[in-house]
Amino acid sequence: MLVFNFSPFPNLETNRLNLRRLTSEDVDEILVLRSNPEIMQFIPRPLIKSKEEALEFITTMNAAVDSNTVINWAITTKENDELIGMIGFYRIKPENYRAEVGYILSAAYHGQGIITEALQRVIQFGFEEMGLNSIEAVIDPENFGSEKVLLKNNFVKEGHFKEHTFFEGKFLDSVFYSLLKKNY
Ligand SMILES: CC(C)(COP(=O)(O)OP(=O)(O)OC[C@H]1O[C@@H](n2cnc3c(N)ncnc32)[C@H](O)[C@@H]1OP(=O)(O)O)[C@@H](O)C(=O)NCCC(=O)NCCS
Repeated sequence: MLVFNFSPFPNLETNRLNLRRLTSEDVDEILVLRSNPEIMQFIPRPLIKSKEEALEFITTMNAAVDSNTVINWAITTKENDELIGMIGFYRIKPENYRAEVGYILSAAYHGQGIITEALQRVIQFGFEEMGLNSIEAVIDPENFGSEKVLLKNNFVKEGHFKEHTFFEGKFLDSVFYSLLKKNY
């Protein structure tokens, strides 16, 4: 079984971006991002409604990183340390050498290839440094932007699960994509 150690925190870099650990200084940006119903439209998680909840989110996320069960990065541009999005492996199954990737980006930065750029680096980290054999992504069937990001990164559609998730009174479909190490 794989064993992870995310300490010291693995800061990553791409052409335009820095990927770093969340800090309590990110509280306002997390609140703006996670309280926005449009941004959260396809992410079945409750909206964050206050600064306190945003701080709690940061604490919970960093505790999970410290216990090596999650790895989450704040996305920033190289010009500015302000958080513009997040990316990470949130459901890791070390026994299967597999993890689920997730990402979210502030609307002001959509359509500039930012998540694609961050995802390429995170995929490399997953395969080459974490030792994963496969990475999965689970999306809403109507999240065409996210689907495009996955297809651009060689993910393959594995299946469409009907009414797979119960969230806020509704059963939601989930589409599973995956990328195998041998195909990346
Ligand atoms: C999905 C998301 C992460 C994409 O981030 P991004 O940095 O804009 O992605 P990229 O620019 O790398 O690529 C997006 C591609 O999808 C396209 N696209 C975006 N929205 C689209 C839509 N509704 N229909 C079709 N294509 C769409 C873009 O034009 C772009 O295509 P291109 O590479 O040919 O220019 C971002 O829109 C987001 O954060 N959405 C809200 C959170 C979310 O849904 N997260 C994913 C949960 S699984």
